[in-house]
Amino acid sequence: MDPALDAEWIARMSTAEITQLRRNSGGRSVMFKLTFADGRRAVWKPEQNQSGGSATNYVSEIAAHHIDRILGLRRVAPVSGRAIGLSRLRAAMRGDTEILGRIQREVIAREGQVRGATIAWLDGTLGSAIPPQAWTGQTRGRPVAPQMLERVREWTDLVVFDFLIDNTDRWSGGNIRTLGVGGPLIFLDNGAGFNQWRAEHDRVGMDILQYVCRFKRTTIAQLRAMGPDAPEGQRLGARLRAAMARDVLGAETLGDVHYRALDFRVGRLLQHVQRCEQRFGADRVTDI
Ligand SMILES: Nc1ncnc2c1ncn2[C@@H]1O[C@H](COP(=O)(O)OP(=O)(O)O)[C@@H](O)[C@H]1O
Ligand SMILES: [Mg+2]
Repeated sequence: MDPALDAEWIARMSTAEITQLRRNSGGRSVMFKLTFADGRRAVWKPEQNQSGGSATNYVSEIAAHHIDRILGLRRVAPVSGRAIGLSRLRAAMRGDTEILGRIQREVIAREGQVRGATIAWLDGTLGSAIPPQAWTGQTRGRPVAPQMLERVREWTDLVVFDFLIDNTDRWSGGNIRTLGVGGPLIFLDNGAGFNQWRAEHDRVGMDILQYVCRFKRTTIAQLRAMGPDAPEGQRLGARLRAAMARDVLGAETLGDVHYRALDFRVGRLLQHVQRCEQRFGADRVTDI
């Protein structure tokens, strides 16, 4: 993902005319596919309740994109908020009783408007991925085989990223994707993060981190510079707040408790890294 394209994508996705609105199937959430006047496409995940079995929180998609960019991971597509009128949505789905029923039961409208996250459409085939064999072994104290280096980097970044966005729905199937079959990991479907209850109770949702003790040096350096020892305004929570404030919907959608909880998770993650360093030596923890 090239961050140089973000501004153009975000301007398009937040305000450009939508020329076509169709449903998108493939996941559990209610979601749609938008086409803009210039022919570019995006997925739109509306605000929805969980009665249909999805865990989708559209705000999590927006915030996850910004965290990816703040940390320089570059694995998340451009994402922006966008509201669409409920009547327009219904009109576009005319005749499709199944989706109209789901809109009725699951989609949340406020004063006739449905908020949601637009996610830039990724062209080409998306692959599915499973962790490389012996991946966790390579993340705990042993030397990393040179041919594994890039793989270990991307998988440990995925674990760090999910821990930070509080995503509990990566490993349930279908949510680990690559750009092209066998290509680099992309972090797609980030809608199950930023849980309200866990944020309010200082709980972390993901225990897979405990199996991982090797991290990308640059990612951890970034987090240390934005961690509990950094001045308030430089912490990840403050940076995310500033980024969300620039989104058309973002400022009003993520409550204060989430920025605090994000900083709490950064602290927890850095403590874990430190414990790994005590156990295996720093030169076997952040050496990739
Ligand atoms: N931005 C995108 N570009 C291309 N394909 C996408 C995009 N977003 C979703 N998809 C396709 O739709 C599927 C379901 O999307 P996902 O975000 O996982 O939804 P859900 O929250 O319902 O699981 C993905 O696995 C992928 O095949
Ligand atoms: Mg999914």
